[in-house]
Amino acid sequence: MPSALDKIAFDAAQAARIGWFFGQKLLASRMGRPVAVPETLRRRPMPDRQRLLADLRSLIAQDWRNIEAGYYTLAADGLGKPLEEIRRALDFFADLSAVERRRHGASKERLLTHTPPGRYPPYYLQKFHFQSDGYLSGASAERYDHQVEVLFGGGAAAMRRQALVPLRGALAGRAIGGPDAARLLDVGCGTGRFLREVKANYPRLYVTGLDLSAHYLAVARRELAPWSRARFIEGAAEAMPFGDAEFDVVTSVYLFHELPPRIRRKVVAEVRRVLRPGGTVIFVDSLQPGDEPAYDATLELFPVAFHEPYYASYLREDLDRLWSPGFTAGERLRAYFSKVLSYRRDPDTC
Ligand SMILES: C[S@@+](CC[C@H](N)C(=O)[O-])C[C@H]1O[C@@H](n2cnc3c(N)ncnc32)[C@H](O)[C@@H]1O
Repeated sequence: MPSALDKIAFDAAQAARIGWFFGQKLLASRMGRPVAVPETLRRRPMPDRQRLLADLRSLIAQDWRNIEAGYYTLAADGLGKPLEEIRRALDFFADLSAVERRRHGASKERLLTHTPPGRYPPYYLQKFHFQSDGYLSGASAERYDHQVEVLFGGGAAAMRRQALVPLRGALAGRAIGGPDAARLLDVGCGTGRFLREVKANYPRLYVTGLDLSAHYLAVARRELAPWSRARFIEGAAEAMPFGDAEFDVVTSVYLFHELPPRIRRKVVAEVRRVLRPGGTVIFVDSLQPGDEPAYDATLELFPVAFHEPYYASYLREDLDRLWSPGFTAGERLRAYFSKVLSYRRDPDTC
């Protein structure tokens, strides 16, 4: 049970995070040239700074309630060493001019060209959002976590952590070590941010991270080096290099909005194949229209303001339908700009 002192330390650490990253978000938007807002969005309300900060505070309060309820432990996600944080911020701002050029430039500037032919699917070879080299450089991998925190004003870690709530239920009654131990797969694991939260709570759990980017996997391997039973595999989510029913839990955090609709369906089919009957999928991604009506216009503006070529189609995706047949919907939580959905894989009928 966390103490009153833990609560004070938690509040101070989260306030410092939000101050640091939300401040950079404001500065970055002041430095950028606004994009033309489509006529259809102009008259629709969008949350202002006060509303965003209030919602971030609600997220942090939700995070604390989960810690108090024992869903997960106190996270060590305060800011790092000051000089390191400053170095990362300078690197982020140095890269912004390239982001700005892409935002206002010709569409071909958003595509990656210098990549070995055939190694990656064409839809992947793009400079998504802030990613100046796409996902295909060490610099991109080192910058990524900072960029995501700036985008969400310091709330990204707490948003991801909400997925630990359904994870607790998914692992209840399962052996965590030993011969019949549970196995978790994180699809599109990136730099391993979510897996770090998982291992901080279940150090003996066998976890696998799958991603197309060797550079992002290198960061994930480094960051998860303190833990054993963590392996990282380079491969595509739509053609997973795993056997049938190999995993008890499959998680996916912020992957689906970056996939074309037909690839999303292939990934769901692969998850169904590698997950054992009765296993759980935990899905984290952006809110969609209707989840929080005050945010709808902001969600629709996002792919206009940044290069997110598949985000608009993600906004229209019926996720329960995407995950059926074969899965039964379970928990659903809202976490600031994200939502967490869980689905249980139905037993095989044949
Ligand atoms: C937006 S990032 C999310 C990373 C991480 N899950 C997180 O919480 O920050 C998307 C990640 O998915 C990976 N990715 C995109 N398409 C993929 C695919 N078809 N198969 C495997 N990984 C993919 C990218 O390389 C990138 O690391």
